[in-house]
Amino acid sequence: MLLGSGFQRLAQSGVYIKALACYTDAWVEWKKAVFIAKDPKIEPLAFRNAMSHFAEAVHVVTTDGPAGRRGVTISAVCSVSDNPATMLVCLNREHESNHIFIENKVFALNTLSFGHMALSEAFSGKGSLSQADRFALGEWQTLQTGAPVLADALASFDCRIIETHEVATHYVVYGRVTALKGGGDGQSLIYLDRSYHHVGG
Ligand SMILES: Cc1cc2nc3c(=O)[nH]c(=O)nc-3n(C[C@H](O)[C@H](O)[C@H](O)COP(=O)(O)O)c2cc1C
Repeated sequence: MLLGSGFQRLAQSGVYIKALACYTDAWVEWKKAVFIAKDPKIEPLAFRNAMSHFAEAVHVVTTDGPAGRRGVTISAVCSVSDNPATMLVCLNREHESNHIFIENKVFALNTLSFGHMALSEAFSGKGSLSQADRFALGEWQTLQTGAPVLADALASFDCRIIETHEVATHYVVYGRVTALKGGGDGQSLIYLDRSYHHVGG
């Protein structure tokens, strides 16, 4: 009998603990929702998590000129106008070397295929290769501006910088397209949910 009521108490306290856990979870979720709705400062991680649902084409943007040669993997790209043809790219200005693009006043935007995944990884810093070793992974040519154009890119946009804005952590760089090149084949390289995918053909 004593043993039986002991079990009963134990079972009852289990129910209380479960109820408390559910209540705590619900409370935490509710607090989170209120926090998100009311907090005027969006947390960078919450912002990046939301952005991870964007399917983005992957490019290597390059430059060459008096300030030196540089290439960076980017996805923050937008076509602004087709007449005159104008592109926009966003480059982190907290990176010690991205000022090179602004100083050279030119960039080439190279749109990658799925076969360029290793190139994309190298130009995003994976493997910590030197810029020379990153460029050695591809075949490059120049069109109008002297910025390196990837020979087998799906598309390349050779641009002169016409305007730069400093917005939060980034340079928003507008480029007038001076030459276009297509010809590469393969499926588009897409970045979604923090990993690479391929679409089209
Ligand atoms: C898929 C992908 C997209 C990226 N998009 C951008 C971008 O739009 N702008 C940017 O400044 N950096 C972007 N980055 C980060 C840069 O590639 C990375 O910071 C830089 O190349 C590191 O260069 P480092 O090795 O010279 O430091 C992206 C990286 C990846 C993997």
